[in-house]
Amino acid sequence: MVDLRIREMQDEIMRLKKEKDVCILAHSYQAREIVEIADFMGDSYQLSVMAQKAPQKTVLMCGVRFMAETVKMLSEDKKVILVNPIAGCPMAEQMEPEMIRYFKEKNPEYTIVAYINTTAELKTVCDVCVTSSTAVKIVKQIPNERIAFIPDCNLGAYVQKQVPEKEIKLLQGGCPIHASVTVREVEKARELYPNALLLVHPECVPKVVERADFVGSTSAIMEFAKNNTTHTDFIIGTENSIIEHLQYMCPDKRFFPLSKNLICPNMKATTLVDVLRALEGKGGEEIVMDPETIKAARKCIDEMIRLGG
Ligand code: 13P
Ligand code: SF4
Repeated sequence: MVDLRIREMQDEIMRLKKEKDVCILAHSYQAREIVEIADFMGDSYQLSVMAQKAPQKTVLMCGVRFMAETVKMLSEDKKVILVNPIAGCPMAEQMEPEMIRYFKEKNPEYTIVAYINTTAELKTVCDVCVTSSTAVKIVKQIPNERIAFIPDCNLGAYVQKQVPEKEIKLLQGGCPIHASVTVREVEKARELYPNALLLVHPECVPKVVERADFVGSTSAIMEFAKNNTTHTDFIIGTENSIIEHLQYMCPDKRFFPLSKNLICPNMKATTLVDVLRALEGKGGEEIVMDPETIKAARKCIDEMIRLGG
């Protein structure tokens, strides 16, 4: 049963967001009580598209910083608030623009493909962005045969496998949460749930990804599990909040975690109290970006939407 105080807080959030005409976006790694008060839940690609479409002038992002920055870049005239300012993505901070400038100087023949989990500054020196749900599609369409994929070498390795006709250079980087999943954990989960299908996010290491029955973004994993008619049991190889969302969506199916370590502390930093405080104007951080950075970084986000749509 839902705690009454939680319900009251949710009611107050619903009232305030209507009164103040605010759109609340939640990444699918957010907790259920946050997803319940959001206007839209989705993967990082869907969130950027939804932010552009939202008629409201203020957007609250329940997710991590690069997601709020992406929203701001796509909708400069909107007020964008990162609900919990400490929520960052460690992968986004792994590379400095200087490093890519140097790489480009030495390797001008490469197209630089950046995972959207990067800072706005890094995006300014890249050619096109991708998300986990659009990476393969976009890389296939890039006319250049030579691609440098940053920063996630696991997602990059997955793309390399799906697009063998291209030469894809991988630079070191990745998600500490997904990359921590081991083959031993896959074997253990297979033993425990022998009738389950294994669904994993491509941020996991190649040895885990190649053992999966399905590989996809957070939304693709949820869609697959929802629509699958051959199985009732699924092992989920991405952030464990997806398990709870799926359990509510599909009460007749069963969902199991691939690893107890698949919990992103940054995604989990946002609470209902943070949402309420942000709506009351007492918390959150308004994303303010220099127009030059927006102009330079936006090119590769626009290109992602053009090629990924
Ligand atoms: P999605 O592109 O699947 O939303 O993933 C974002 C992310 O941060 C995964 O760890
Ligand atoms: Fe970043 Fe990994 Fe958390 Fe996603 S799960 S936000 S990639 S640290």
